[in-house]
Amino acid sequence: MSPSRRKLVVGNWKMHGTHAANEALLEALKSAGPLPSDVAVCAPHPYLAQAAERLARSAIGWGAQDCSAHEQGAYTGEVSAAMLADFGCRYCLVGHSERRALHAESDQLVADKAQAALARGITPIVCVGETLREREAGETEAVVKRQLSAVIHTLGHCAGEMVVAYEPVWAIGTGRTATPEQAQAVHALLRAQLHAATPRAAQMKLLYGGSVKPDNAGVLFAQPDIDGGLIGGASLKATDFLAICRAGAH
Ligand code: 13P
Repeated sequence: MSPSRRKLVVGNWKMHGTHAANEALLEALKSAGPLPSDVAVCAPHPYLAQAAERLARSAIGWGAQDCSAHEQGAYTGEVSAAMLADFGCRYCLVGHSERRALHAESDQLVADKAQAALARGITPIVCVGETLREREAGETEAVVKRQLSAVIHTLGHCAGEMVVAYEPVWAIGTGRTATPEQAQAVHALLRAQLHAATPRAAQMKLLYGGSVKPDNAGVLFAQPDIDGGLIGGASLKATDFLAICRAGAH
């Protein structure tokens, strides 16, 4: 583990939760005491105020799962980065594969969202990853490089401020995790690409996501270029999520 890169574990609740269920989950996370990793949860928009209130004065950060690329205006249903920043949002996922696939988000739109978040002081967690078809066609490297390159190009000298999450689409919600070697190989590629773009590459956090569970988090997080995880299903259960947060210490 690189001493200069403390692990970051982020829960992506996706479209799950109720006021009562979130209350129990956030209380359990808060009462867990000090954790060896930086930790955050990305809640659905209607629950951001609840996360902000419940996590105030705690070490656990919180974030959104998406934001608009636009500043403001006639964009019904969208939420701007300024609104997220208005009440203290620290992180925003952008370009999650579910949004790329289900909402046809292009590489450039994802890059514009990352830029909108950064402009408001919110750290974008930029998700990249190949589908099973792309992996089997030997296109993994080309796909993730293309996705990251759009963001690097748009952010320019601020590229070093983002967090990158490698989430192979075939590993999301499937129980089929990338092996630590497969994940590390892609992380190393991404790190090399970042080195060519920003002097901050060595300090940047690169997260792995896709069926991370308490029993596989330790070995994944032990890889030299894996600096933590983006956790879907297991982030909804406090005991599992906390076990993953603690895996960063091993
Ligand atoms: P799972 O952990 O449920 O596979 O989801 C991963 C993910 O998409 C996190 O953003």
